[in-house]
Amino acid sequence: MTTRIIGTGSALPSRVVTNLELESFLDTSDTWIQERTGIQNRHVAVTETTTSLAIQACLKALEDAGKQPEDVDLILAATVSPDCTFPCLACEIQAAIGADQATAYDINAACAGFLFAFNSAAAYIACGMYRNALIVGAEVLSKLVDWTDRSSCILFGDGAGAAFIEEAEEGIVSMLQGANGKKGMALYRYEPPILHPFLKQTTASDDAGRSGYLEMNGQEVFRFAVSQVPDSIIHVLERANWEKSEVDHYILHQANARIIQSIAKRLGEPEEKFPMNLHAYGNMSSASIPVLLDEMNRAGRLKRGDKIVMSGFGAGLTYGATALIW
Ligand code: UT7
Repeated sequence: MTTRIIGTGSALPSRVVTNLELESFLDTSDTWIQERTGIQNRHVAVTETTTSLAIQACLKALEDAGKQPEDVDLILAATVSPDCTFPCLACEIQAAIGADQATAYDINAACAGFLFAFNSAAAYIACGMYRNALIVGAEVLSKLVDWTDRSSCILFGDGAGAAFIEEAEEGIVSMLQGANGKKGMALYRYEPPILHPFLKQTTASDDAGRSGYLEMNGQEVFRFAVSQVPDSIIHVLERANWEKSEVDHYILHQANARIIQSIAKRLGEPEEKFPMNLHAYGNMSSASIPVLLDEMNRAGRLKRGDKIVMSGFGAGLTYGATALIW
């Protein structure tokens, strides 16, 4: 027995922010952003929250799968931008949709989060603990970035994507995931310190880098992605006993068009096999893979039997890949 995706869903905030709008308050340009990243627009949550986007995406995935909330055994939510530290996002989703039978908890593996949730749920299903799972990646990164830092804020967007998966004869063929904590400071965010009776003031050195904003060494993350993702893909292909040429779609984390093009080149595979939607949404961290999956599913671009490799990387630094038959 393995695990198959049988329904997908996604949700995006209604407010679209163009590169031209960013030009109005940042020392940047539409040309620079498009040439260096491929991004044209991103959606920014104004009235929506991480929870509301996640709930919408989950309900759509259930509807697409033809399932009811009470059918769900497990909810795994991947996020680095929950509305509350606790209760977790997955428990909030469980309550909102009425999936009363489901176990629910969150996973923080940043941009690789959806993939880690998917792989974790598949491992539970393989060992017989659960028969199905609702997995979701949901982010409102606009509340974590420094909107005066042109090197990071232009990259990110808000959204949520979900999938309902269940045990099946055919589906996931091989999985890989890993982490390199030693490179964690390439992309991080500290909670800003809260003063309390035993901590009356913080020193300037304590505060350094603890602004509460996302901080990133873009070039280091870029280098990590273009070497680690091809390696991960080659490993899952070997484990699946698939040739690269057999793969129909490489569904990668949508961070930067240049990263995806470089990965395609390193693998020696045509760029047409690497669908992209980052021009419209920017980098939505854990939501980027499931939103792309949902768009392809609803557009009829995925056919039963298609061979797919999903791969992601992100803060941690984390990375992973999964080979599956649609
Ligand atoms: O999910 C994982 C999340 N993180 C990532 O995926 C990040 C991966 N890294 C990247 O995508 C790229 O490194 C960036 C897009 C972040 C930056 O692109 P780059 O080609 O590595 O640019 P750079 O950092 O080397 O900067 C080149 C120049 C610098 O100016 P000088 O020093 O050459 O004068 C920057 O100050 O571009 C400048 N710059 C900008 N200029 C206009 C940086 N950001 C901007 C901007 N607009 N938004």
